[in-house]
Order: sequence, then structure tokens, then C-alpha cells
Amino acid sequence: MASNSSRVPGQFLLGQVLFFDPEQGSIDGREQTSRHLSDLPGSFADQVAYARLLEQNPLLYQVTQVEEQNGPGQLHYGIGILMPGKVGDEYFMTKGHLHAWRPAAEIYVGLRGRGMMLLEDEQTGRCDAVPLEANSVVYVPGHTAHRTVNVGREPLVYWGILSSEAGHDYGTVGARNFSKVLVDVEGTPTLLDRAAFLTKLQANAR
Ligand SMILES: [Fe+2]
Repeated sequence: MASNSSRVPGQFLLGQVLFFDPEQGSIDGREQTSRHLSDLPGSFADQVAYARLLEQNPLLYQVTQVEEQNGPGQLHYGIGILMPGKVGDEYFMTKGHLHAWRPAAEIYVGLRGRGMMLLEDEQTGRCDAVPLEANSVVYVPGHTAHRTVNVGREPLVYWGILSSEAGHDYGTVGARNFSKVLVDVEGTPTLLDRAAFLTKLQANAR
């Protein structure tokens, strides 16, 4: 059996070494922060399906952030694991956010699973979905709201790496949400206008 003695996490004179589990989306010795369905009121379009699933209040995602290095030039990074599932036809997703320092970009690196990122340019309003999956890298430009969506059948695991000065603004996205939704249309992940999807939900409810 291989020895673990070469795995020496911690702070060295030059640099920090941590070990992570790409299956579990965790970092050795670090605590994960969990977000359940009840932590995302108002995020999902189908409020009837949301209320129904709230009785089970499933785990949606866990994140582990490494934010010890601060100041100009420093980086923060974190690993996330987003579960498979849907609220109505809308796939499980993260809250989504902008960076408090709007010009700050971010790199997402997919490790496991099949997901997409919703990207919405705050200045133009343009909203797109791009794939985030094992062995893909997504560059999230500054001034861009971003949300991770699991469109697959297994957990989606990914890294996010950004400036320590970026900060998080959840409030702006929380107040107005993204203009598009990623929903399952006959087994295919499909990007739809939120307004059109809401109209369809209301028509179906009648
Ligand atoms: Fe971010």
C-alpha cells in the first residue's frame, strides 16, 4: 500500500500546499460550507415545484474556500461540488454572484461531471451558457454575473480561482436574478428566456 507520507499539506517558506479530492470536491482538513434548497429562495423559476421539494430540502452544493492570502496580487480559490437534480424542469444550480470589485475576472476549472455556467454581462445584459465539465476551463470576464448549473447525472466538481480583492456581491443577482434559465426540455439542457419560461409555467398551471 502506498504511503501517505509524501502528502504534507501546509504552509511552507515558499508557498502553500493543500490536497484535494476531485470526486468529493473537498480539500483535506478543510470544512465545507453547505447550501440546501432552503438557502436559495427566489432563485428557481418554478415556485410551486420549489415549495414541493422544500419538504425534503435537499443539499444543492458545498464549497470550500481558501482565502488566507490577501492584498494586491494575491489569489483566493475554492472547490465546489454541485449535486444533480432539478426543481421542476430547472437544473440544480448555485446562487450566482457578481464580484464586488466588478473588473475582477475568474477562472473555473471543471474536474468531474457535466455542467454549464450561466454568464450575464452586467453592462450589456447579454446572457449565455457555456459548458463546464471535466477537463474544461471557463474564463469568466469582469462585470459578469456567473452561476454554475449541473445538467448531468453525477455531481459536478470544479475549481474557481480569482483575485483576493474580487469579493462577492450576491445581493444584485439575488434581487433581479439571471434573465435566462437552464431547463430540461425532453432530456436536453435548453437555455430559455426567464420571462417566457414563467409565462409557460403560468399557462400550464391553469
Ligand atoms: Fe466568482
